[in-house]
Amino acid sequence: MTFRALLLEEFTPEGAERPTVSASVQEIGEDRLPEGDVTVDVEYSTLNYKDGMVLSNVGRLVRNFPHVGGIDFSGTVANSNDDRYNVGDRVILTGWHVGESHWGGYAERARVSGDWLVPLPQGLTTREAMTIGTAGLTSMLAMQALEDHGLGSGPILVTGAGGGVGSVAVHLLSRAGHPVAASTGRRELGEYLTALGATEIIDRAELSEPAGRPLLGERWGGCIDAVGGPTLSHVLTEMQYRTSVSACGLAGGNALDTTVIPFLLRGVNLLGIDSVLCPTDTRSRAWNRISELVDHDLLSSMATDATLDELPRLAGEILAGQVKGRTVVKL
Ligand SMILES: NC(=O)c1ccc[n+]([C@@H]2O[C@H](COP(=O)([O-])OP(=O)(O)OC[C@H]3O[C@@H](n4cnc5c(N)ncnc54)[C@H](OP(=O)(O)O)[C@@H]3O)[C@@H](O)[C@H]2O)c1
Repeated sequence: MTFRALLLEEFTPEGAERPTVSASVQEIGEDRLPEGDVTVDVEYSTLNYKDGMVLSNVGRLVRNFPHVGGIDFSGTVANSNDDRYNVGDRVILTGWHVGESHWGGYAERARVSGDWLVPLPQGLTTREAMTIGTAGLTSMLAMQALEDHGLGSGPILVTGAGGGVGSVAVHLLSRAGHPVAASTGRRELGEYLTALGATEIIDRAELSEPAGRPLLGERWGGCIDAVGGPTLSHVLTEMQYRTSVSACGLAGGNALDTTVIPFLLRGVNLLGIDSVLCPTDTRSRAWNRISELVDHDLLSSMATDATLDELPRLAGEILAGQVKGRTVVKL
């Protein structure tokens, strides 16, 4: 049996010193699938920031070629040697370095360890699961971490709100009853973010300026930060007493220049969020909460459809911060 896949291949162009990576949709044999105890007919995958890095060969996340990217997928079990999964079961995969060190979701078939799967939660379709995808799961992990540590009275700030993590975070926070301040560099997304549940739109330039002092006025009751860099430094100075920032992204830079004053004088918590190796019980709790909270029509408004062939172009766009919401790939 053969299946379609977006295959990444490494080659060195004549005269070039370094190899480069090409991407093309190819029909390949099932015997090329990697090892694993569950084979899945992939129905949907998505484009996350990390997928953009893999497809553009930024950061050397992939060491072995040929490679199939796609850090998440949803689909139906086609074959299983794992007692927890039967043929016909609907499943989700996010993380575990799938799409980086193991072939991922940009193919009609995938073979993975059963340990990496979670059952599709009641109330979500496979398309909706991937509209949420890694980005949305990360938003929920970030929101649960904030709630577990206690929220302040001010709005919950979401940075990078127009992107994948940000859009889902705005929506889920709002559905959970929290006032949400959405920070974006794209003013034209104001209406979209308000429809998702933002109560306030913040110009991201306001937050990326150096604060100039270790503490500014207490403003935010919590923060989900997808941007990092100077934005995170600034935000830390504006957190309310005993509130937290869930740091989950680096779209604006990975360096953090700050002082310890917000931690010492305001008891601010800086919470690290990792969706890749997050334990399965925490993932399942997050997926179930997502399924309880999500508004299906609004979720659909975040999704833009893409094909395998379009992904190499879209990879550049997501790294440039030009993609709105979530990009869903139908296999
Ligand atoms: N920790 C984890 O497990 C985990 C999981 C998933 C993603 N992530 C990380 O989270 C981040 C967001 O991922 P994503 O898939 O949501 O990407 P995305 O869709 O590209 O969203 C990122 C958003 O950040 C804003 N942005 C981009 N460049 C910026 C800059 N130079 N300065 C300030 N803001 C900028 C843009 O929003 P506006 O135009 O609205 O300002 C952009 O849409 C990435 O860094 C990704 O690696 C981490």
